[in-house]
Amino acid sequence: MKRIKISDLFASAKIGEEVLVKGWVRTFRSNRFIALNDGSTINNIQAVVDFEKEDESQLKRITTGSAISIVGEVVESQGKGQDIEIVVKSFDVIGDAHPDEYPLQPKKHSLEFLRENAHLRFRTNTFSAVSRIRHNMIFAVHKFFNDKGFYNVHTPIITGSDAEGAGEMFRVTTLDLNNVPKTDEGNIDTKQDFFGKEANLTVSGQLEAELAALALGQVYTFGPTFRAENSNTTRHLAEFWMIEPEVAFNDLNDNMDLAEEMLKYCVQYALDNCKEDLDFLSSRLIEEEKGKPQDQQSMELIEKLKMVVDNDFVRLTYTEAIDILRNCKPNKKGKFQYKIEGWGADLQSEHERYLVEKEFKKPVILTNYPANIKAFYMRQDDELPEAKPGMEVGTTVSAMDILFPGIGEIVGGSQREERLDVLKQKIADFNIPEDHVWWYLDTRKFGTVPHAGFGLGFERLMLFVTGMTNIRDVIPFPRTPKNAEF
Ligand code: 4AD
Ligand code: MG
Repeated sequence: MKRIKISDLFASAKIGEEVLVKGWVRTFRSNRFIALNDGSTINNIQAVVDFEKEDESQLKRITTGSAISIVGEVVESQGKGQDIEIVVKSFDVIGDAHPDEYPLQPKKHSLEFLRENAHLRFRTNTFSAVSRIRHNMIFAVHKFFNDKGFYNVHTPIITGSDAEGAGEMFRVTTLDLNNVPKTDEGNIDTKQDFFGKEANLTVSGQLEAELAALALGQVYTFGPTFRAENSNTTRHLAEFWMIEPEVAFNDLNDNMDLAEEMLKYCVQYALDNCKEDLDFLSSRLIEEEKGKPQDQQSMELIEKLKMVVDNDFVRLTYTEAIDILRNCKPNKKGKFQYKIEGWGADLQSEHERYLVEKEFKKPVILTNYPANIKAFYMRQDDELPEAKPGMEVGTTVSAMDILFPGIGEIVGGSQREERLDVLKQKIADFNIPEDHVWWYLDTRKFGTVPHAGFGLGFERLMLFVTGMTNIRDVIPFPRTPKNAEF
């Protein structure tokens, strides 16, 4: 007999049919009721054993975490919650899980505990739901771009360049740390290293994606990126996945349209294709929020997802945002929580979340940031921002950040500087040696065109869609400072 997946069983099995199912035992109650899961759905199938007929030594082996196969008849379920169950005709224990040793017991474990047992957490309801949604979101991203005629490009993971210029790179080397070759001046002799120069793990595939876009028209990357920033927050990983589209002939407005359309598409895709898992995570979240004071409770998950799909994102300039933040009301205690230094200061995530969650109550796209807080490749705006009382005037760039409720920045992007002379000046201002980026400058020398792109942090999207609050819980094996187990 061929095995049937539990999801297919729920979808199409007929009463009276004999089936073979295989999976892992979630619970075994009263020596009679097995809750079996095979990963195909959040729902367990209940299998009922007649314990008087079975060998006791075999029954004892049915424990939480053990793997079993069951042949049985599909019958209408007596209990509530599901339509069908299986009456067991025979079963086989495939793999035991000794109850004294198996770490996952049939009770609610904390997310912290599950992080420490990341090798087993795929077997929990929460993490299996997150994993299935993650797969669906990966698929949605590829489908969105494929349907639009974009080409997926694999950009290098090991690279000689620092795309963001933030110096937050992991070094890749084969040199013996205890015996590093030195030049006559006493510096590390990188010529003797594997690549004959310094190499790093990529922080972004953007610069290489630009090279492709300026020939293929519209491309996107979807790959791992690495940041050696020592920020131990619930929004940062040292290894995360980024989606970076890049489009020739697009300006900042086209870029905003594309990003908004893409985010809405992915969220709608989850609503259409991950209903059972979202309902499970939603009820999980409601349970978790119960204890909190009302004004600190986050929005119901499905409602929050619909909010993104149903509303136009607010679009405003950095200068306008600063104006709002400078004038926002102090909180009840009279403390001015959202105080900002003034024009030129970078926004902290508390500022971003104030704008999204309190001021507009929908996603916000902020544009035209000060040039000196953004990367070198962003296109310099032709006009200076208007001076307002108490605000300085300065050079801005055609940057955009998309801010989401509960997250803050989810997307960062810009129109790119396509003018060779302006770009050369920017590179000099940022102290980037021209011989490090000669290949990038070549695209501005030969057939340059306006173009734009952005980066979506995949795990930030996952945080939003699943309602999980710690980025470590939406990637299978999180890499964070002092954590690289497995
Ligand atoms: O704003 P960032 O640094 O922009 C870039 O890397 C550009 N090259 C993108 C582009 O224009 N092609 O990063 C983009 C996004 C952020 O908005 C955030 O969602 C995510 O990547 N991100 C992180 N996600 C998890 N952990 C980190 N340490 C992250 N750093 C950035
Ligand atoms: Mg950014």
